[in-house]
Amino acid sequence: MTLSAQTTIVSGIQPSGTLHIGNYFGAIRQHLALQRAHEAYFFIVNYHALTSLRDSEALRRYTLDVALDYLALGFDPAAAALFVQSDVPQVTELAWILYTLTPVSQLEKGVSYKDKVAQGLSPNAGLFNYPVLQAADILIYGGTLVPVGADQKQHIELTRDLAVRFNATFAAENDLLPVPEPYILEEVAVVPGVDGRKMSKSYGNTIGIFDEGKSLKQKVMGIVTDSTPLEAPKNPDADNVFALIKLFATPDERAEIAEAYRAGGYGYGHAKKALLRLIDTAFAPFREKRRELAQRPDDVRDVLKEGGERARLKAEHTMAQVRDAVGLIQTTRP
Ligand code: TRP
Repeated sequence: MTLSAQTTIVSGIQPSGTLHIGNYFGAIRQHLALQRAHEAYFFIVNYHALTSLRDSEALRRYTLDVALDYLALGFDPAAAALFVQSDVPQVTELAWILYTLTPVSQLEKGVSYKDKVAQGLSPNAGLFNYPVLQAADILIYGGTLVPVGADQKQHIELTRDLAVRFNATFAAENDLLPVPEPYILEEVAVVPGVDGRKMSKSYGNTIGIFDEGKSLKQKVMGIVTDSTPLEAPKNPDADNVFALIKLFATPDERAEIAEAYRAGGYGYGHAKKALLRLIDTAFAPFREKRRELAQRPDDVRDVLKEGGERARLKAEHTMAQVRDAVGLIQTTRP
């Protein structure tokens, strides 16, 4: 994957509560690495969240929490725009126009939609149309590269289809909406949760990025291991604790700990303490930064406000052309 001078990165972040180590190694780290692209837009998708969240207080809190988390983890608002999706209501307008180009049959094939229905959820129209709003999110900022997890591949396919269809239908001469490429964030490694299954909020097996002290210790000490006795040699590659250690350790530390596993006389308790130290070292500066930012909520809001203003300018520019292309007369707008 190479970034050109024209690359515009666009990605949405779910406001789904406290971020965990799996989110960090699966997506956030890569987001942060891409923020210095030519143009980059990262937004907290609170409209999307409404498809399943019915608690206004929680939605407000989660939205601001994600902003705090990203800023604490090193998001640089001078390099890229970080904002709240609903601060650019133009995306819902573009979504409407895209609905009219979307076959219902294509949405019925949506994997994540079908999953939710299979789980017994009775879907609202927002959930059904979720991928179209996501397409609008991407196309309105002229996104050319979309860093997302593998589960989002189908949504990017739909986005590409819609861009092509829009251009073919309404904007034949100038391809108004660039066709974006997905940038699938391959899992660097499976990040196991404390029960050994993939770390996921829905399994309740997460270790939070900002956990610390007693609660962090409790979670780490509770990681499921096999019952090989302390003296016996152990296979590091078959152990959840070591799988997590690998994410944090330098190559030397990793080799040293693996050696200790194989030699025997090194128990899982030792490994968990080593992991705890590694997590603390890696994340202590982020926790500090987050505490500091939490004292200045107005500054965090200012970052979102500025990002939203930048994004809205771009969105309005796209929409003026889109309205014109489809034949929506604009009588009150400049
Ligand atoms: N659906 C994405 C997810 O679940 C979030 C999202 C919304 C998004 N809009 C987007 C991702 C636009 C990339 C681009 O993670």
